[in-house]
Amino acid sequence: MNLHRLMQMHASGEKIAMLTAYDSTFAALADRAGVDSLLVGDSLGMVSQGQDSTLGVTLADMVYHTRSVVKGVQASENNAWIIADMPFGSYQVSKDQAMQSATQLLQAGAHMVKLEGGGWTHETVEFLSQRGVLVCAHLGLTPQTVFALGGYKVQGRDEQAAGILLKHATELEQAGACMLVLEMVPKDLAFKVTQALKSCATIGIGAGNVTSGQVLVMHDMLGAGIGKMPKFVRNFLQDHHSIEDAMRAYVSAVKEGSFPDNERHAW
Ligand code: KIV
Repeated sequence: MNLHRLMQMHASGEKIAMLTAYDSTFAALADRAGVDSLLVGDSLGMVSQGQDSTLGVTLADMVYHTRSVVKGVQASENNAWIIADMPFGSYQVSKDQAMQSATQLLQAGAHMVKLEGGGWTHETVEFLSQRGVLVCAHLGLTPQTVFALGGYKVQGRDEQAAGILLKHATELEQAGACMLVLEMVPKDLAFKVTQALKSCATIGIGAGNVTSGQVLVMHDMLGAGIGKMPKFVRNFLQDHHSIEDAMRAYVSAVKEGSFPDNERHAW
């Protein structure tokens, strides 16, 4: 997998199937199952470390898990595109700090880094992009600011909030972001954003089946999530006998557009 192929998929409407991964075994399984991209998400703070938010995840944690995922993909055959999250506090201080953090993640083997938020972030994205760092942005429900957002809630519901999100998305594309995660936004807004962006693929999570691709937290799609699952999650393991088959079913469902189902998994 490479950026050119991902952009071709975005342009041609072929859906991009992404999953999170945190260790080498599951990364290798997902890669063998045909997942296009793996996100070493800072959701690992919740699913691996047992924290109640992503805020406690450090850059050292992200580097450690990125290395493990890279090893798993190298041991497999498909070479999924690897994105690593920049954790909270690793890019907010200055553009130089962001460059230093991104460097560590790229040195650990990531192909691209992801950071959250719109508005102020476009200068950081531009700074990184101009220096050869590929950036995935993240708008909508941004877990690193969950307390400021007042909880895990759908974002961009009213006209004003939707307009701001669309503006931030176009600014981030102009700044050089090549991918954009849209988390928990109404399907109509995800559609508008996806249509507006030419050189930036949108990856939805709780944003309907109108984006260039989909991502789910691996534990959630395997039915291993703890607590109440959000509406947009589907357990792919319940109808399959192995984890790899469940992942394969996820990839097929994303590619054929049957996941997410707009009635059950979107708002
Ligand atoms: O950290 C993560 O896993 C993420 C996804 C939920 C998009 O950011």
